[in-house]
Order: sequence, then C-alpha cells, then structure tokens
Amino acid sequence: MSADQTTSDTADFGFRDVPRAEKASMVRQVFDSVAPKYDIMNDLMSLGVHRLWKRIFVNAIAAGPNETLLDLAAGTGDIAFLAKERGAGRVILSDINHAMLNVGQGRALERGLAAGLTYVCADAERLPLPDRSVEKVSMAFGLRNCTNKDAVLREVRRVLRPGGRFHCLEFSNLEIAALKPLYDAWSFKALPAIGQRIAGDSESYQYLAESIRMFPDQATLAGMMEDAGLERVAHRNLSGGIVAIHTGWRL
Ligand SMILES: C[S@@+](CC[C@H](N)C(=O)[O-])C[C@H]1O[C@@H](n2cnc3c(N)ncnc32)[C@H](O)[C@@H]1O
Repeated sequence: MSADQTTSDTADFGFRDVPRAEKASMVRQVFDSVAPKYDIMNDLMSLGVHRLWKRIFVNAIAAGPNETLLDLAAGTGDIAFLAKERGAGRVILSDINHAMLNVGQGRALERGLAAGLTYVCADAERLPLPDRSVEKVSMAFGLRNCTNKDAVLREVRRVLRPGGRFHCLEFSNLEIAALKPLYDAWSFKALPAIGQRIAGDSESYQYLAESIRMFPDQATLAGMMEDAGLERVAHRNLSGGIVAIHTGWRL
C-alpha cells in the first residue's frame, strides 16, 4: 500500500482526518476562498521564490511547439503561461475549481495569451481526456490537495502518449534538518497571520501549511509514481528540498 492509504474511510485534510468523501469539497472551499488573493499570497508566502521554482520547472518540461501540455491543478495559470511563453504548442489548463480557472482565464486575456489555451474543469483523479492523448503532463503544487494521489498518477500515465513525460512540482522534505524550526515557524506562525491580514482567512493558510507537512517525501512520491506505471522516475530538490521536481516517463 502506498502512503496514500486509499482503502481508508478517511483522508488527511492538513493534520485532521476527515471523511474521505468530504475532502475534495473541503479543498474546494479553501481554493474558493483564496482564489482572489492567490497570486499575491504566493509572492508573500514564498518571498517571490515560487516564480523561480516555476521557471525552473517549466524549463525542465520543455514543451515544444508540436506538443500538447496538460497542466493539472492549473489554478490561476502560472505554469501554462510560462510554458506558452517558452514555446509550447497547446496547453490544456485543468483544475477542479472554477474560481481558480476563472482568475486564470482573466489573466490569460490580459496578457494576450488566449490562443492555444483550453480549460477543463475536472478532478485530476478522473480526467475527461482520451488515453494516450498528450505528450506532457505537469502538476505544480496540486497533488498534495488530491484525495487519491495514486488515482491521479494512474490518470497521468493513462493520458500520456508513449514517450510522454510527467513533471510534478511539490513541497517536499528539507535536506538540512537544522533549518526545520525556522521553516516551521514561517509555515505555522507567519503564513496563517499573512493569510488573515491579506485574504481575511487564516484557516486556509493553516491548511496549506499542514498539507505540506503531510505530503509524501521525495522517495515515497517516487515509489508512488513507479507503482502507477511511470518509468525512469527521478527527482531534483530545489531550495534545499523545500520543493522537489519529480519526473517520470510513460514508455
Ligand atoms: C496551490 S494551487 C496550485 C496552482 C498552480 N498550479 C500554481 O502552481 O500556482 C492548487 C490547485 O489544485 C487544485 N486542485 C485541488 N484538488 C484538485 C483535484 N482533485 N483535481 C484537480 N485540481 C485540484 C486547486 O483547485 C488549486 O487550484
């Protein structure tokens, strides 16, 4: 059994166990609440570093002009826009949350980036896309919010064409344990306080901090990807393991 414990009746929602069937709607409420302030909060919470992580991630994806990139948990579109600017052919932005995608659609229009972008509101555990239909799949800061992560990874493999590659950017485990107290103070004290001040919502940011700690570490996630049938799985830590990029191929 993977770290996802898919046979359990409960699922983790941050540090709490909640009925499995309710997690998705609880996560939806979080992102309904944070959507209007999501982008400014990302800058504040990461001191702007998320932009660098995303740039490195999109460069690693390297979606070409003849390729379709499916960006799961696309949110307000950061990955899709960077990929488009970098020369990706077609990008499908998929997210379970209308509010997040709506913000993304508005941003795409403002930037004159609408061509070649399509939007699919869907749960990454059940994608309404044909088998073997895309060359690349990406997911940035999305997997930890999904109830059944194994199902997401199986869907990723199913929709990838043979020879296609999956890239996942997620929070992960710090390489230097001595930095943990500082990181914990930032996550559990500063983030909810900033969330309260900027977005009038400390609880959602408390959940985000907790969900980061509950997410599988580098080796566990790599094992889950292999169990889902992805091959040549590898990972690369950024910022000392605060985040990691995992990759795997469908061969
Ligand atoms: C932290 S945001 C990341 C957004 C974007 N990828 C980025 O890096 O800025 C997480 C996103 O995951 C989405 N999400 C949560 N559960 C999901 C699911 N089961 N399927 C698809 N998207 C989901 C949320 O709606 C939210 O937009």
